Amino acid sequence: MHFAIYTLQSLALFHVATTGSFVADGYWDIALGYVSEEVVKGRRTLVTVQFGHNDMKIAEPESMGANLTIMVQELRALGAEPVLVTSLTRRSFNDDGTVADTLGPWAEETIAVAEAEDVSYIDLHQASIDYVEAIGEDAAHRLNREEDDNTHLNINGSIVFGR
Ligand SMILES: *[C@@H]1O[C@H](CO)[C@@H](O)[C@H](O)[C@H]1NC(C)=O
Ligand SMILES: *[C@@H]1O[C@H](CO)[C@@H](O)[C@H](O)[C@H]1NC(C)=O
Repeated sequence: MHFAIYTLQSLALFHVATTGSFVADGYWDIALGYVSEEVVKGRRTLVTVQFGHNDMKIAEPESMGANLTIMVQELRALGAEPVLVTSLTRRSFNDDGTVADTLGPWAEETIAVAEAEDVSYIDLHQASIDYVEAIGEDAAHRLNREEDDNTHLNINGSIVFGR
């Protein structure tokens, strides 16, 4: 049986979280509490971890990477299996129809941590860029929560990218 905790930043509760503030504000300890409860039941416990959108506003990628590394190690110490997820792309486009990416260095850092720590990762950043470039700017913006908000998702966007 699988049990996953989603720390996606599109969730309202965590919408301004960085790897630093998530720990400092107590959410990390709360998450670890849930994880421990599952592990002690003998369940294989997968935990997805995605950061970047707010980390990029305050520090270089390496700062997030150092914090992710600690998160991975703490999850493993509890007997859980971390799965790192690279940042969902923002839906801002260049004139030629390609995504105007800003999160690339944070996605690369996430993958570097996954490789260094030998944990699985999902490259949502690349997959979401490929997807929104394929459907085009107008269709991509129909996944916005607010018309001018190319970051947060409405219900359809949550279904598409959560899947
Ligand atoms: C990483 O965590 C440290 C505290 O351990 C914090 O000072 C730093 O701002 C965090 N980095 C990011 C990008 O949140
Ligand atoms: C979500 O998709 C459905 C089916 O295409 C559509 O009817 C609905 O209006 C969409 N909702 C939003 C908030 O865009």
